[in-house]
Amino acid sequence: MKVFKTISALRRTLYSLKREGKTIGLVPTMGALHEGHMSLVDASVKDCDVTVVSVFVNPIQFGKTEDLDKYPRRLKADAELAGSHGADFIFAPSVEEMYPNGDPLTLVRDETLESLYCGAYRPGHFRGVLTVVAKLFLITAANKAYFGEKDYQQAFLIQKMVKDLNFDVDIKISPIIREPSGLARSSRNEFLSEEDHRRAVCISAGLNAAKAAYAEGQRKVVPLRDMVVKAILVGGGLVQFVEVVSQKDLRAFASGVVDENEKSVILVAAYFGKTRLIDNIEL
Ligand code: PAJ
Repeated sequence: MKVFKTISALRRTLYSLKREGKTIGLVPTMGALHEGHMSLVDASVKDCDVTVVSVFVNPIQFGKTEDLDKYPRRLKADAELAGSHGADFIFAPSVEEMYPNGDPLTLVRDETLESLYCGAYRPGHFRGVLTVVAKLFLITAANKAYFGEKDYQQAFLIQKMVKDLNFDVDIKISPIIREPSGLARSSRNEFLSEEDHRRAVCISAGLNAAKAAYAEGQRKVVPLRDMVVKAILVGGGLVQFVEVVSQKDLRAFASGVVDENEKSVILVAAYFGKTRLIDNIEL
């Protein structure tokens, strides 16, 4: 497993592999790798000749009061885990390598969706994500890039950016990997106290209950939403938002009824203690 710290060294290696006709798979991450990330690595290793995992805690996607300093960093363990799944390279640049002039003034934004749902509570978050992901696409010239459905709005915005800006990269989205309890795996789960870790299962339980109600014919947004809100409150969490939206454009159903002709998804963010967790379920 080779760890690259500079853009130029990584580029030299990847470009010469591309000239040999090898396909490059990119798995962008912020590290503290777990089984969720590994499902993306596994998919890339299966599809591509070369797999690069980027490990970069991207400061421009964190708000001033968020957990940037606390975010777990353990490059050696990450490299070992990714290597054990067949990844070839880690790209772990410093902040200065990625942003040599401080916070960049050239940013990639989605003007309509960046301020909804997660973006409403994390101003600037998605433009930080889109900007770093665009840079990673340009740095690696990856043929395919792998993202998780766990970050539903993020995956949606990245696919949209690729279309809108004609990036020559094939985006692959993998399903959510969960702990046996149902809790979606996340690098932030390790911030949870033992008790909150147990309690946080109520998020996926609430989502599953709403999905079951939908399967039985419930189409009204408010009762579907309330099932999830109630499950989280009873479980001891603090709901930030629960929204039932269209998979097609991530818009809420203005009529208050899920459109029969459109696939929908429930998006959730909730706090357990100081830890913010997100999850979702497609209906
Ligand atoms: P990070 O939170 O490290 O996640 C990296 C990738 O792993 C994302 O595509 C995310 O959706 C996926 N992932 C995380 N947990 C998962 C799970 N339980 N099941 C399936 N996939 C999961 O998302 C980011 O980093 C950053 O915003 C990034 C895209 C790297 C830009 O900085």
